Amino acid sequence: MSIATELTPDGSPRILYLNRSDIAAVGGDHAELYVHALRRALVQHAAGEVVQPLKPYLRVGQGGHIADRIIAMPAHLTEPGVSGIKWIGSKHDNPGRAGLARASAVIVLNDPQTNYPVGLLEGSLISAWRTAAVTCLAAAHLARKNFTEVALIGCGVIGRTQIDALLEQFEQIAAVHLYDLDPAAAQTLADAITGAHPAATVRVAGSAEDAVRSGDLVVPCTVTDQPYLRFDWLRRGALLSNVSIMDVHKDVFLGADKVVVDDWDQSNREKKIINQLVLEGSFSREQLHAELGEVLGGGKPGRDSDDEIIVLNPMGMAVEDIACAAEVYARARQAQVGTWLNLY
Ligand SMILES: NC(=O)c1ccc[n+]([C@@H]2O[C@H](COP(=O)([O-])OP(=O)(O)OC[C@H]3O[C@@H](n4cnc5c(N)ncnc54)[C@H](O)[C@@H]3O)[C@@H](O)[C@H]2O)c1
Repeated sequence: MSIATELTPDGSPRILYLNRSDIAAVGGDHAELYVHALRRALVQHAAGEVVQPLKPYLRVGQGGHIADRIIAMPAHLTEPGVSGIKWIGSKHDNPGRAGLARASAVIVLNDPQTNYPVGLLEGSLISAWRTAAVTCLAAAHLARKNFTEVALIGCGVIGRTQIDALLEQFEQIAAVHLYDLDPAAAQTLADAITGAHPAATVRVAGSAEDAVRSGDLVVPCTVTDQPYLRFDWLRRGALLSNVSIMDVHKDVFLGADKVVVDDWDQSNREKKIINQLVLEGSFSREQLHAELGEVLGGGKPGRDSDDEIIVLNPMGMAVEDIACAAEVYARARQAQVGTWLNLY
């Protein structure tokens, strides 16, 4: 379905508003929709067929928490022909202070023919699931075949979605090892996983190191800006999907057999760990194995041996959000779900 400007009979442009329940009703709370839409988007990204400006971070004041910001993430994809932006806010203390999730977002979809807005979607559900689907796609190409052990550090919204998506996509997963600085968060997630996926064994680990040492696939989803995860904690053959970006010591990138990013330019900025290594002269684009879309499209190999330690640094890209939101929009149009809003 094309993303086209809609007019009411009296000539007002109208937009389709999809709240979280609408998005879930068309499959937006499961991995399948996202894996499908993302594979296509990431391959287009690697082929240079998307437009994706570097995302600006709106931060207020000096020296605030790393997770206190609003990020603007615009992108255009030629297939399926859509432009749009995710506007995603975050406050690290929302859960404790306000009883709210850390992140909130809206996504606006635009018709590239007119550049009019055509869709407005709740964005944090899509954001969490697309992030989980990136790990699923990476696991399919970069993890050991038939990996069975998953380690998760940080048991919030993003962590939970990672585990739900992985258990949906990989039936062979036997055990999930959880760690959170807040033991209650780890236990709450352990109970939720056991309830939803009774076939998997769930263990709350005594430390981050204990969890990481148990993982064939290791996924940090914290809000830290203090690296704690050391290279020598990783098993031979591990894949680390570095979702929360700042958890790993520099030696993880320097020791890994392959480093894969979603986008080099997005990874090499804002004093993130890769950017720090580049500024010090100890890492460069030449040492990068690939961008993820190159692996998915077959242009670069994925895992070559069971022994390799591979690190994926997924900064998170606007093309992912816009491609997934466009798929949700198309399914909602087909299912006649959502609320029309007139612009005039
Ligand atoms: N790469 C991407 O594309 C992408 C996309 C979305 C979110 N994220 C990142 O995912 C992270 C998690 O987001 P969320 O919404 O789940 O946050 P959240 O606040 O809901 O959960 C974070 C959890 O991590 C725990 N934690 C914090 N520091 C820790 C530490 N050092 N060790 C162990 N546990 C620790 C907290 O207790 C909390 O339970 C954020 O950093 C966010 O920026 C990345």
